[in-house]
Order: sequence, then C-alpha cells, then structure tokens
Amino acid sequence: MLQGRRVLLIISGGIAAYKSLELIRRLRDRGAAVRCVMTAAAAQFVTPLSVAALSEDKVYTDLFSLTDESEMGHIRLSREADLVVVAPASADLMGRMAAGMADDLAATVLLASDKPVLIAPAMNAMMWAHPATQANVATLAARGVRQVGPNAGDLACGEIGSGRMAEPLEIVAAIEQSLAPDRRLAGKRALVTSGPTREAIDPVRYLSNHSSGKQGHAIAAALAALGADTILVSGPTQEATPPGVALVAIESAAEMLVAAEAHLPVDVAVMAAAVADWRVETVADQKLKKNGKGPPLLRLAENPDILATLAARRNDRPRLVVGFAAETENVVANAQAKRRRKGCDWILANDVSAGTGTFGGDSNTIHLVDAHGVEDWPAMTKQAVAARLADRIAAALHGAE
Ligand code: PMT
Repeated sequence: MLQGRRVLLIISGGIAAYKSLELIRRLRDRGAAVRCVMTAAAAQFVTPLSVAALSEDKVYTDLFSLTDESEMGHIRLSREADLVVVAPASADLMGRMAAGMADDLAATVLLASDKPVLIAPAMNAMMWAHPATQANVATLAARGVRQVGPNAGDLACGEIGSGRMAEPLEIVAAIEQSLAPDRRLAGKRALVTSGPTREAIDPVRYLSNHSSGKQGHAIAAALAALGADTILVSGPTQEATPPGVALVAIESAAEMLVAAEAHLPVDVAVMAAAVADWRVETVADQKLKKNGKGPPLLRLAENPDILATLAARRNDRPRLVVGFAAETENVVANAQAKRRRKGCDWILANDVSAGTGTFGGDSNTIHLVDAHGVEDWPAMTKQAVAARLADRIAAALHGAE
C-alpha cells in the first residue's frame, strides 16, 4: 500500500507515455497522491487533460508559468514529494539529468530535488545501447538514481530489443520498494571517526588540520539511516550531529583512541577523521610567552594510530575495518601501501591536494581499495559517497562480498 505517500511523476516524451496513465491509476488505487510534471514532448503523446483527470491534481508543464510559480514553485514540487518517478525516462531527459541541465520544468525539478529518484527508461533499442546513453545511465546510478527496466521485447518503432518501458505494475513494485525504509543495518553496530584532532601546545594553542567533519558525519548519517546503531567519535566541527547518531566529542588523538576502544565491539568501523600524526611531547601548563630568546622549540611525539590499533585487535576486531587515505600524490599506490600497513579491509583514497577542495568542501572523488583491486568512483557529494559506502557496507556485512 502507498496510502499517504506522495509521488511526483515526471512524464517525458515517448510512445510509452500512454502507460504512465495506467501507472497513475495504479498508484491512485493504492492510496498514493500523484502530482505530475510533463515535458513539452510528453504532451505530444498524452494530453495534460487526461493526466490531470487521472491524477485528480493540476498538471505542471511550464517553467515560466507565473501562475504555477506563485501557487507552487518548481522547488516545492519535488520537496513536497516522497519520491520522484520519471516514467517514461527518454534518452533526452536522462542526458539532461546526467549533465545537470535545467532547461525545462522537468529538468529543473530534478536538479532541485533532494528526494530519491526512480527512472523507468523507454526508447529504441539502439538508443538504449548507445555508449552515450549507457554513460548517462552509469552517471545517474552513481548519484543514487534508481532504475526499473527497460525490458526487452517488441518496441513501438517496430524493432525488437531492450528499451521497452517496464510495465506499470513493475514500476509500482519498484516505487513500493523505494519508499520502504531500508533497514539493512538494523541490529548492527557502527563506529565512525570524523573531523580533525587538536593537539595542545599550551592552554591556548594547538596543532590541527582543515578537516570539517562533513565526510565523516555524512557516513555516520548514512549508516544510521540504514538502521545501524551508530557511534560517532568526532573532533571539533561545525557539523550538526546526524539524527539517530550518538556523538562522543573528543579533542586529541589520544582521546579519540580511548573513545573508539571504549565502544567496541562493533560490526564496522569507518575511520574518516583526520587524526594528527604528531602531538607536542610536553604540553606547557601555562601559556608560552615570548622571552626574548627566540621562538620555542616544539618537540613532537608520534600519536597512536587508531585505525591500525582497531584493525589489530585480537578478540574484538570489527568485522569490517574501513580507513581513508588522504593523499597529495600517487593517490592509489600510496593508499594500497597504507591499507596493507594499517591492516584494514578497505581504504577510501581521496586526493587532498590544494585546489581539490576535498578538505572542507562538499564533494569528494573516491578510489575504494580492497584486497581485490581498486574501484574508481566518480566525483560526487560527500552525502552520495556516504550513501554508496553504507550500501557497500550493508552488502559486505550480509555476506554478499
Ligand atoms: O572532514 P572533511 O572536510 O569532510 O574532509 C574529509 C577528509 C579529507 C578528512 C576525509 O575524506 C579523509 O581523507 N580522512 C582521513 C584523513 C587522514 O588522516 O588520512 P591519513 O592518510 O593521514 O590517514 C589514514 C587513515 O588512518 C585514516 O583513516 C585516518 O583516520 C587514520 N589515522 C591516521 C593517523 C592516526 N594517528 N590514526 C588514525 O586512525
């Protein structure tokens, strides 16, 4: 049942648009509220009047409609939905989604959406098989866009092949699945480290780095969203504690290690914190003063390695230990060596060179290194990195890897 759930259905141009009328009926039968956006091409195949009658709602077609903008606004269209469904998803609209275009209402709504998106591609078999379309499909999948179909069979163009839009009931099933809460990590415990550490020099000064905590906090949020009992051990950040996550605030690497070990056993540990490798050997009790003899000499001592320590635990080693590798050169090769040295299962290598914006920015480009090889992820938001990692962790803990 979809009682009370709100679906925003985007209908793009293609002969399969006639099936979207049946889809609307099936969704309405199950109690879903369906609001529709049509592209100009879609209106060549089915009339906005039929769509409005079946959805029992206004149909939105025009990006520049003053009436629509004052009544609803294109941003609110997706924000007020639980799920955005594109059916049929034409090659053209998928291309525009992948390119991040906003040249009509449908594309703009998709670009401005923070909701899960499900596409039901429909097109000629050659168009579907074309490398450009397949590259777009891969880009969308990497961003977390879900897909149902296309099926193989007779196509409207008279050819036979893959490109038939999934049947309305298959799309309804995919919608029900997309809207069902994903609790694959329920009953599992996760430990995440995030943010920088601060290593005191004296009561007012410290050594630290530029980590904002965005990546680590997003990972804790994604694991908690899948139902994991999640502990986040974090250095000082401006990031809000994600819902359902237990925060343990620390300052130094030594405190981070104590907090991490105190929360074992866990099923998975993800070490995203930028831990200072060194601390000042002797922290001054009082504020260091200029004494006319030149600057003080700070002698450094090596900090404990939290990732390596957890990976080496004998009786309560987390089943899956995931580290990060912040590199400025030979990113993958250095990460491979680091994975072996620290004894973790996976390491997520990211380039933190000046100009990448990885430290403090909103996006990241990851190379996941494990014992079998390297998986290159495209550039994506830190939330998308977190969601993809959480998905991989859920699969690994359920034995799919
Ligand atoms: O916080 P953001 O602004 O969002 O930036 C994200 C990030 C760049 C900090 C993050 O993506 C990242 O790369 N985190 C790891 C940073 C780091 O310390 O990398 P490293 O290559 O120096 O360390 C390798 C691994 O060992 C890391 O998992 C680190 O947490 C861990 N480590 C390092 C030193 C130490 N003493 N103890 C550790 O556990």
